Amino acid sequence: MSFLRLHAPFRTINLTKRIGTRSLATATGTSHSFNSKKNAKGNYTVTIIPGDGIGPEISESVKRIYSAANVPIEWEEVNVVPYLKDGKTVIPDEASKSVKRNTVALKGPLATPIGKGHVSLNLTLRRTFNLFANVRPCKSIVGYKTVYDDVDTVLIRENTEGEYSGIEHLVVDGVVQSIKLITKVASERCARYAFQHARDIGRNHVTAVHKANIMRMSDGLFLDACSEVAKDFPDVKFDDVLLDRACLHIVQDPSLYSNVVMVMPNLYGDILSDMCAGLIGGLGLTPSGNIGRDASIFEAVHGTAPDIAGKDLANPTALLLSSIMMLRHMRLNNYADVIESAVLKTIADGKKLTRDLGGTASNTDFTNQIISNLESV
Ligand SMILES: NC(=O)c1ccc[n+]([C@@H]2O[C@H](COP(=O)([O-])OP(=O)(O)OC[C@H]3O[C@@H](n4cnc5c(N)ncnc54)[C@H](O)[C@@H]3O)[C@@H](O)[C@H]2O)c1
Repeated sequence: MSFLRLHAPFRTINLTKRIGTRSLATATGTSHSFNSKKNAKGNYTVTIIPGDGIGPEISESVKRIYSAANVPIEWEEVNVVPYLKDGKTVIPDEASKSVKRNTVALKGPLATPIGKGHVSLNLTLRRTFNLFANVRPCKSIVGYKTVYDDVDTVLIRENTEGEYSGIEHLVVDGVVQSIKLITKVASERCARYAFQHARDIGRNHVTAVHKANIMRMSDGLFLDACSEVAKDFPDVKFDDVLLDRACLHIVQDPSLYSNVVMVMPNLYGDILSDMCAGLIGGLGLTPSGNIGRDASIFEAVHGTAPDIAGKDLANPTALLLSSIMMLRHMRLNNYADVIESAVLKTIADGKKLTRDLGGTASNTDFTNQIISNLESV
């Protein structure tokens, strides 16, 4: 089946005309480039948030591998244990200043304190640093057998609004209302990043994923915003697909999406990105990056794995692959390539694999094997 046939363009009403071009506070500025300078020793400073549970163990693996590969980075470690300030969940000033100063951070998984009135810490970080686009690539890994060996999807999720705006009301007993907020400015900002990212990674095709047939105004506005931005990228093909069709096609033949960057509203991106992760072996192997106005934060998407924390059993691959996305964001591509080759070789060889990958190796053994597979930059 041809890829083009799957993408019958969906026509929407032009909502820009209908509701105007108001802009909201969620969507200011579009700068996301990495502009930090090297210090006197020739290194960049990067904030590291080791996180909870297995976070410190997998962060330590990354640090050891970076040190062995002589990556020109100095880590600035901060803690983000949240506290309530005027009823709002905030992170310590020191952590916030470090991320803003360095404009880039690597983050391990965080456990949100339960029952203390906090909102999710990950949500707090998104809001604090205006992390407007979540980038989730999923590529089949040689040596880890799954149903497909040709998955290579790149998905960009709008990260600040949509179904996750947190606006819910009790209308009357037994009736609740949850508001899906979509703004032109936030949609355009995310779309622009998707087109730019498509160019950067050599894919000349962006596909908007939506349900504008049902949510004509909200998803219609998102789609219109993508179409508007597409005009500024004449070298990148643009089309769109309904979310349900995209899911069906990806699980039938993921290669249909291997030359495309998909862009979509928040909830769809949350679900579809985990589905793609499942196709390559789960969250333990998938990286992610949160691109923001004030900073960008790269993180593993799995949780704190409390069942194996402190036992030297954790697999650091997801955090390591996230850090490799970070290196490319920092334009340290040579280092990214060398570390990525070493990780992929270690998994393909299959001699030292952690338990979740079907082996018996500890985190330390797996990390040592990656280090021994590093070739010089
Ligand atoms: N991005 C984040 O910070 C994030 C994401 C999801 C969950 N969480 C938090 O993590 C905690 C635990 O959540 P959960 O148990 O639902 O999910 P989880 O991802 O922590 O664990 C699910 C299963 O996967 C395994 N696993 C996860 N990562 C692994 C790794 N790197 N290596 C080997 N095995 C790994 C665990 O041992 C467990 O069996 C909760 O407090 C949750 O709020 C944080």
